Amino acid sequence: MNTSSANLDPTTPPWWDDLSTAVLVTDADLCLLSMNSAAEVLLGLSRERIIGHPLGQWLKLDRNLSSRLRSALTLDQPITLRARQMEPLRADRFLADVIITPLHGGISERPGQLLFELNAIDRHERISREEQLQKQQAITRAVTRGLAHEIKNPLGGLRGAAQLLASELDDSGLKEYTQIIIREADRLRSLVDRMLGPNNLPRREAVNLHEVLEHVRGLVSVQLPLGLKIRGHYDPSIPDVQADRDMLVQAILNLVQNAVHALEDGGEITLRSSILRQYTISGKRHRLVAKLSVCDNGPGIPEDIRERIFFPMVTGRAAGTGLGLPIAQSLIQLHDGLIECRSRPGATSFDILLPIDSPKAQEGTG
Ligand SMILES: Nc1ncnc2c1ncn2[C@@H]1O[C@H](COP(=O)(O)OP(=O)(O)O)[C@@H](O)[C@H]1O
Ligand SMILES: [Mg+2]
Repeated sequence: MNTSSANLDPTTPPWWDDLSTAVLVTDADLCLLSMNSAAEVLLGLSRERIIGHPLGQWLKLDRNLSSRLRSALTLDQPITLRARQMEPLRADRFLADVIITPLHGGISERPGQLLFELNAIDRHERISREEQLQKQQAITRAVTRGLAHEIKNPLGGLRGAAQLLASELDDSGLKEYTQIIIREADRLRSLVDRMLGPNNLPRREAVNLHEVLEHVRGLVSVQLPLGLKIRGHYDPSIPDVQADRDMLVQAILNLVQNAVHALEDGGEITLRSSILRQYTISGKRHRLVAKLSVCDNGPGIPEDIRERIFFPMVTGRAAGTGLGLPIAQSLIQLHDGLIECRSRPGATSFDILLPIDSPKAQEGTG
């Protein structure tokens, strides 16, 4: 990428855009002089738009930071800020180690400049945790599939034999037993089918995510236990997504039903939508990602299963099958998305991250 023409500072080195650390240079008034590609990604902005503008227009800087920056310049000493919450106005917030160094010569001859190095820490953690999770899930899926087929094959024979036997029997008391065999075989079959998960590819069409969220809210509202509430809180600017509407409904419904099960009197479920810019899912960066959250104020996910809830058959409920979350996860992964979860007593939230850019557009931009 040759964007050096966009740098006001002609002395920017050629390897500037190859750095994985986000780097910015400002003047003494914190007006942006140059930034590299990694910084563009973190801030969700192209340098053409923001060079020459005050950094504070795009990145929330608290007063404390501004005054420390001034003292770094006066004392001519670098400052290091560890694990600092950064809030870009056009991208997802992130945690970063920040090193700010007053510059002399080097990149520029102009005095009174500041070099910012931003090392996003939680993004890396999130991505490696995500990769780990996906590897584990791929293994579990393979094992589950193998096992499911092993169960399914003899089940057909078992059911057929019970039917034959039933037709030979006159005693209705004995027929009762064959009915039990048939019923249980059917139950097992449907369980195994659900364990195998969705085997169709999504049938994509333009989907309005708010219509989908409202549809699920309507479905749940009619059978919501007294004392529970479900609300919607949407960012109206999210564009339509190319997606399989039924699959999205199913995934969101599974999350909402879990919240309903977890809640007691006075419980509240909130469906939220928001948009993330320049967000990486499974190693692939997307320009726009929709985030649909199902939040509840219930007791939170039981500690002992928290790390495993996306695996099949993991349940914290006596009547649970442990299939709701793995199915929801597969449905969203079929859309190149991901479900993430955060939970503590009083605040549980499942976030569906769904790329908005169509696969075609992604190919075009690499
Ligand atoms: N919103 C939530 N609050 C508390 N626990 C939850 C929530 N969502 C899921 N869980 C826990 O995760 C488990 C697995 O959920 P799921 O895969 O849908 O299976 P099931 O609902 O059949 O148990 C649930 O049994 C519950 O213990
Ligand atoms: Mg469930």
